Amino acid sequence: MEIAPGVVHLPRCLSLEEQRILVDRCRALVDGDVPAYVPVVRGGGKMHVRMLCLGRHWNGQTYTYETTRSDFDQLPAPPLPDDFRTLAQQLARAAGMSLDPDLCILNYYDADGHMGLHQDKDESERSLAAGLPVVSVSLGDTARFLFGGLKRRDPVEARLLESGDAFVFGGPARLRYHGVSRIVPGSAPPEVGLTGRFNLTFRQYDV
Ligand code: SIN
Ligand code: MN
Repeated sequence: MEIAPGVVHLPRCLSLEEQRILVDRCRALVDGDVPAYVPVVRGGGKMHVRMLCLGRHWNGQTYTYETTRSDFDQLPAPPLPDDFRTLAQQLARAAGMSLDPDLCILNYYDADGHMGLHQDKDESERSLAAGLPVVSVSLGDTARFLFGGLKRRDPVEARLLESGDAFVFGGPARLRYHGVSRIVPGSAPPEVGLTGRFNLTFRQYDV
């Protein structure tokens, strides 16, 4: 369960029924009034996911959080639903950490979706210094998740994140590099009713 200091993988901690309900919620959100979109990041490259931020919007041009999507359509970020917040609190606790998230980045990966190695470091300095964890929830198709060290060139471990898994990294691991090298198409449990993958990462902007 604890795979390194501050790193906890909780395989299949959500039941199939919980997964299915969450998938339906995520689908309604990404296709809702404030839909997910493909961000264009600094440097001009398109991301290889569809992204929707809840609670606070992460701007892919400035790498800062804001209330409205000024890099895209000027719409306000939808609120973080209370039950999402509660779920993330519970998962952090199950991992032996504590988090009261105020934002979630919801990403949808199709069969070609992926994400390069990066650090999650755009939360407040105080939040990062306190090591408040990132709580990640995976739904649908399996991802080959890469988890490295505090430096980009550090060795990287590959780990499969399956539907219903949580992965929590905080404390000394909060700034470890990570990414998704590939999606395993068709690997989702049929019961969850999803082609592709949703990933939710919950964070707490400030302490
Ligand atoms: C992320 O690092 O923002 C996403 C990680 C994942 O999709 O598992
Ligand atoms: Mn990340």
